[in-house]
Amino acid sequence: MRRMRIEKAKRIGQIPPYLFAEIDKKKEEMKKKGMDLIDLGIGDPDLPTPKPIIERLKKAAENPKNHRYPAYEGMIEFRNAVAQWYGKRFGVKLDPQAEVLSLIGSKEGIAHIPLAFVDPEDYVLVPSPGYPVYRVSTLFAGGTPYFLPLRKENGFLPNFSEIPKAVLEKTKLLFINYPNNPTSAIAEKPFFEEVVAFAQRHQIIVCHDAAYSEVAFDGYRPLSFLEVRGAKEVGVEFHSLSKTFNMTGWRIGFAVGCGEILAGLGRIKTNIDSGLFQAIQEAGIEALSRFNTPLPEMIQVYERRRDVMVKGLREIGLELDQPKATFYLWIHVPKKYTSTQFATLLLEQVGIVVTPGNGFGETGEGYIRMALTVDQKRLEEAIGRLKRINF
Ligand SMILES: Cc1ncc(COP(=O)(O)O)c(C=O)c1O
Repeated sequence: MRRMRIEKAKRIGQIPPYLFAEIDKKKEEMKKKGMDLIDLGIGDPDLPTPKPIIERLKKAAENPKNHRYPAYEGMIEFRNAVAQWYGKRFGVKLDPQAEVLSLIGSKEGIAHIPLAFVDPEDYVLVPSPGYPVYRVSTLFAGGTPYFLPLRKENGFLPNFSEIPKAVLEKTKLLFINYPNNPTSAIAEKPFFEEVVAFAQRHQIIVCHDAAYSEVAFDGYRPLSFLEVRGAKEVGVEFHSLSKTFNMTGWRIGFAVGCGEILAGLGRIKTNIDSGLFQAIQEAGIEALSRFNTPLPEMIQVYERRRDVMVKGLREIGLELDQPKATFYLWIHVPKKYTSTQFATLLLEQVGIVVTPGNGFGETGEGYIRMALTVDQKRLEEAIGRLKRINF
């Protein structure tokens, strides 16, 4: 019998090459050689989910009512808890029926939203460097990403005046993300005001990814995009329980903001997924209504780790800003190396895994990213090892 040829769809071929492949291969090689790796490459919290959230899940999992298909937009009790948390945390009033949508993690919503609004020929404005899903979800919808460089001299904020008119005329959607992965930059009110004015002027839907809004240091409290007048008419904001409550594996997040935009995303979702396990939504209600965020104990741990690393890296001669938010350090690589060369050097010589900045987009070249998601002892060990390298 003739073997069938399995041909992938063109959209798979469009996905940009996986830039971490080289590092991953090296990582495996080093592991096989028995090298003790310190992995600062992945932004996945190592701290546990708070106990009361787990207890609520256990109880909710036993209730047969929760074993059936959930409502696709989320239980009204969960959406109420989101609206209440939002009011308390940001002073923004939300209608839980129309202005809150549950998500199977914020990645799910970010990946699906272009399908609701982007047609072939449309542009989507995507930050570079940026979370890779913005670019891929644009391509999957048949749209074209137009990259907005985030440069240090502009506080890692995009400069909208650089976008050609011909692009703006065909732009449907804008992704922004503050506090920012990977640069750890933050945005203040004037920037969000500029975004609203820009969106109104050019009829562009704003998708603000606020996955790190509750990972902020030294008393700093990141803003919600929706705190700005007019924001709710032009955009939505994505939130996640992943980093706020150490729940990356649970897959729970939500989108809030303009009802019409959320209805578009909801329309896609009803045709693709069947909502979020109700027991997890109950655990989400517990999280959002029981705790004040940012969680003080969690923040203290990250602050201590950040201080150890910023001090240590600067002593070694590496250049970086001290982050006010996110658990990422965005570090200049010494001049004679590219991002990939420097990441490879750290891995080969001292077993430290970092992410090369160019993996997040062209403008990330010249940087590496380290995640503070390993314990302080290991970070001290990492600094000790780095001191042994001559670069
Ligand atoms: C900027 C940003 N947005 C969204 C996500 C997705 O988070 P989740 O799907 O767990 O809510 C991540 C995860 O790393 C992220 O870094």
